Amino acid sequence: MAAVAAAAARSLARSRGRFLVPTLPGGPHPRANVASLAGLSRGKRVALGALGVLTVGGAGLAWALQSSVNASELELHPPSYPWSHNGLLTALDHSSIRRGYQVYKQVCSACHSMEYLSFRNLVGATHTEEEAKVLAEEVEVQDGPNENGEMYTRSGKLFDRFPNPYPNAEAARAANNGALPPDLSLILKARDGGEDYVYSLLTGYCDPPAGVTIREGLYYNPYFTGQAIAMAPPIYNDILEYDDGTPATMSQVAKDVCTFLRWAGEPEFDDRKRLGLKTVLIASVVIPFVYLMTKHKFSVALSRKMFYQRRD
Ligand code: HEC
Repeated sequence: MAAVAAAAARSLARSRGRFLVPTLPGGPHPRANVASLAGLSRGKRVALGALGVLTVGGAGLAWALQSSVNASELELHPPSYPWSHNGLLTALDHSSIRRGYQVYKQVCSACHSMEYLSFRNLVGATHTEEEAKVLAEEVEVQDGPNENGEMYTRSGKLFDRFPNPYPNAEAARAANNGALPPDLSLILKARDGGEDYVYSLLTGYCDPPAGVTIREGLYYNPYFTGQAIAMAPPIYNDILEYDDGTPATMSQVAKDVCTFLRWAGEPEFDDRKRLGLKTVLIASVVIPFVYLMTKHKFSVALSRKMFYQRRD
């Protein structure tokens, strides 16, 4: 009886990979089943070897070709600028967003729509409700139909979207040499590099290098894919006068409009960071507490030791 129990314990221990009971000398030893080339004929081994060399060589060649093409690209990658809102705990600079809205309204909105933004979004972020109402009333909105079935225009209200400079995409293309000015609501999320890219793009216009000719109606910009962009340099020093008296240098204007675009694409930016901070603070108390309580409650079960006694 004892021998049968010991044998059962041994086979159980072996099947679980742990040898609680030493195996009997001369007992069965599992043998790994390793794939090997030893069984193949010489010709097959040579063919397999050649296939391996070709595959590795081909991949290497493809990689070399690809990276040589990359190296010959003229496109500049934007440097990373020290945005004040990029810190772990820093919020967006709201006076910069407000100035950025002014830049968008006075400059960019001549060509670019921002169809996901309404005037009410400005309330509490950049403007007071009264200010936003005044801004909304400046635009004319088509509404209707009225009781006679006719469309009519009225002045804008807080719930209206930002007006689109063109009635449709074809009109936008026709006015811009065939190029479509993209909607700016989510542009920072849509472009690699985000605000670094748009800042570099806005401030990076320069003369084309010797030997590069740019087609009529296009402008040289080293940060744009292909270097020839259909947007004329949109900003320069003192292009506008800021309401708050900040000197409107080109770099200030570019910085403010980028901060505004970041807020436009991510209105939850500040709340997200605040919530993240709360989560980290609460978790840093709760997780060690749960860890210690688990250790405490399970201390008996986890420090138990099991012995098996041979009785043969
Ligand atoms: C005169 C019209 C006009 C004005 C004003 C203008 N843009 Fe543009 N913008 C364009 C056109 C056209 C394109 C498309 C360019 C292309 O595809 O070659 C464009 C493209 C862009 C792009 C996308 C570039 C890319 O990577 O595809 C961004 C970002 C941009 N504009 C930002 C701005 C900002 C910010 C302002 C305001 C400071 C502004 N634009 C003012 C016409 C304009």
